[in-house]
This record gives sequence, C-alpha cells and structure tokens, in this order.
Amino acid sequence: MKKTLEEHADRFSDIASDYDDSQDSEEYRACVSLVVHYADPSEDDTVLDLGTGTGAIALALAPDAKRVVGRDISEGMLEQARTKAAEVGIENVEFGEGRFRDPNVDDAEDIDIVVSNFAMHHLSDEEKREAIEVIADLEPERFVLGDVMFFGEPNPDEPFYSPEVDDPSTVGYLADALTDAGFVLTAVEAVHEQVGVLVAERVPPVDE
Ligand SMILES: C[S@@+](CC[C@H](N)C(=O)[O-])C[C@H]1O[C@@H](n2cnc3c(N)ncnc32)[C@H](O)[C@@H]1O
Repeated sequence: MKKTLEEHADRFSDIASDYDDSQDSEEYRACVSLVVHYADPSEDDTVLDLGTGTGAIALALAPDAKRVVGRDISEGMLEQARTKAAEVGIENVEFGEGRFRDPNVDDAEDIDIVVSNFAMHHLSDEEKREAIEVIADLEPERFVLGDVMFFGEPNPDEPFYSPEVDDPSTVGYLADALTDAGFVLTAVEAVHEQVGVLVAERVPPVDE
C-alpha cells in the first residue's frame, strides 16, 4: 500500500460529499453495471461489499438480496452511504468500518456473495493476495471484483489510476491469487485495458 490506511481513509473522507458526482467515467459506470450483473443475489443471499464507499454497489444490490453488509475504512464515505440508504428507504443494508484484510464481519453471519468495485487497487500485490485469502475463508459462493487492473502494460499516463496512491495488479496476478485461494475464474470482462471485472466462484469440497 502506497499510503497508510489512515491516509487513504482521510483522503476519501475529504472528497466523500463530491465523490458520486465525480464518478462520471464510462468505464466506472460499466464496471458498476457488470459487478451488479454478476453478483446477482437472490432474496436469501447476504452480500458483503468491500471498499463500499458511498454504497454504489451495496445499494444497487440491496433490493434483490436478503441483506447487504458494506465495509470501508472511510467514515466520511460510509456516512454518505448511510444517508443515501435512508433517503431511498433501504433498510436491509448495514454500513460500517471494515478492511479488505479484516472485514469486521460477525462470525455467525453467512456471507454468500462478496463484491468489490474500484477499491482493491489501493492494496499492494501481496496485500491483495492476503485479502483474497481472507475473502475465501468467508466461504462465499462467488466473489465479483471490479477494479483497475492491467490487461496489458501499465500506462501511468492513463486516467484510471494515480501511481502515487494506487497500486493496480495485472489480471494474471489476480487470477493466480484467486485460483490459489480455491476460486475458479468463471468470467473475465475487460472494460478497458486497465479496468475489468473478474468473477470467481468457489468450488465446494465434494462432501459439502
Ligand atoms: C474509489 S472508492 C470506490 C467506492 C465504491 N466501491 C464504488 O464503486 O464507488 C474506493 C473506496 O475504497 C476504500 N478503501 C481503500 N482502502 C481500503 C481498505 N484497505 N479496506 C476497505 N476499504 C478501503 C476507500 O475508503 C474508498 O471508499
């Protein structure tokens, strides 16, 4: 991670009230749509949204899910998410502090689907691998990851990441980390050469 958790949290809290208006790129919107499409929760499913921010994904999934748990390190972003949920009367979503590598999920809570959009690229390669192992330990049916990721060569001149704060991985690295953690990659969507969505499903042991 190129900044501490506190620095990232403060950075996002500072821009929280303008965040939604600033997310106007075609690629961001495409990524949101694809993550929502592939998450596809049923009314019995509990969804965990990591790096939920102002709740773009969590609030889109809540009407179809049993419950959505949104986790983020930025209290300012979480506050925006709670305000939006209250404004539209969504009650089956809970927003609170939690990190990729320590999501702060109740042990008793069964997580069926994990999603994350445009957030994991703040972690280094090794930290992403640790986060993916933590996610696998929650034993979700699937993990849908939309993010900045490199399908080709990194290009710091592109607008999708800031080299001084962001640390995107290659698609190959993410695919290896997911498969090493016991997931099978069932879809790879390239939105842009630096933005994509990976769908990883867990293969249950034969006696499950
Ligand atoms: C670019 S925003 C994306 C928010 C939302 N998922 C979306 O699609 O609009 C990235 C979010 O990741 C959060 N974040 C960064 N590092 C994190 C970490 N280690 N654990 C949890 N959230 C983190 C930030 O606070 C920020 O709210």
